[in-house]
Amino acid sequence: MKQVKLPNHIAFIMDGNGRWAKKRFRQRAYGHKMGVQNMFRIVGACFEMGVRIVTVYALSAENLSRPKAEVEELFNLFRTFFGKKREQMLEMRVKINVMGDLSVLPEDIQQSILQVMEETSVFHDKLFNICINYGARQEIVRAVNAAVSYGRFVDEGSFSTLLYSGGIPDPDLIIRTGGELRLSNFLLYQAAYSELYFSGKMWPAFSRRDLKRAIENYSARDRRFGRVKEE
Ligand code: IPE
Ligand code: IPE
Ligand code: MG
Repeated sequence: MKQVKLPNHIAFIMDGNGRWAKKRFRQRAYGHKMGVQNMFRIVGACFEMGVRIVTVYALSAENLSRPKAEVEELFNLFRTFFGKKREQMLEMRVKINVMGDLSVLPEDIQQSILQVMEETSVFHDKLFNICINYGARQEIVRAVNAAVSYGRFVDEGSFSTLLYSGGIPDPDLIIRTGGELRLSNFLLYQAAYSELYFSGKMWPAFSRRDLKRAIENYSARDRRFGRVKEE
């Protein structure tokens, strides 16, 4: 790759699994399965390139309102991911952090998530955040309630520590696949100055090459954070 400014933190809205499968006359569940495979590929590629933090939107709070069968399929994928794929994750030597309201997940999945978070907590160089039953508004309301319960006024610094993402630098680049131009309740607070990149590729088809293209595009942008560009 050309000399590029690498984002420190990339977040992915992995959208388009269902449409990808439908186009191939397969069930939506097959799309989700291939989506998980692609997640390993793309997240692995980010870390290989030197990105230090990767966040993925795996399941939104609103996704739980999908038909029960699809939600069950998604739960089964999490079961496999945090169970059978555990070894694969330990080999990546990446700290895994799950963000979202996990209380609605089946007990066994909650347990395996806690186990994986515990086992990978020894790794400090790279961080992989997985958002499950996550909603940004819910996250903000939860943080406000925490502040109220502590009887504290907050400022930007102390408020951000009450979010699920407490202590994690904001994403530099948010990549959404699947062609929709929206955030769908993802990291609304943290995305204040993130660069946004939208790809028309469906998530299972989003390749390493597409990733490189997104990073090169990011690299050429001028992040001003409200200031004027220095000459
Ligand atoms: C994204 O793919 C994965 C999840 C939301 C779990 P979709 O399931 O939203 O796929 P499309 O957008 O219907 O194609
Ligand atoms: C966003 O995709 C959520 C995830 C990728 C997990 P959706 O498919 O749920 O978003 P909408 O409904 O098109 O906004
Ligand atoms: Mg979708």
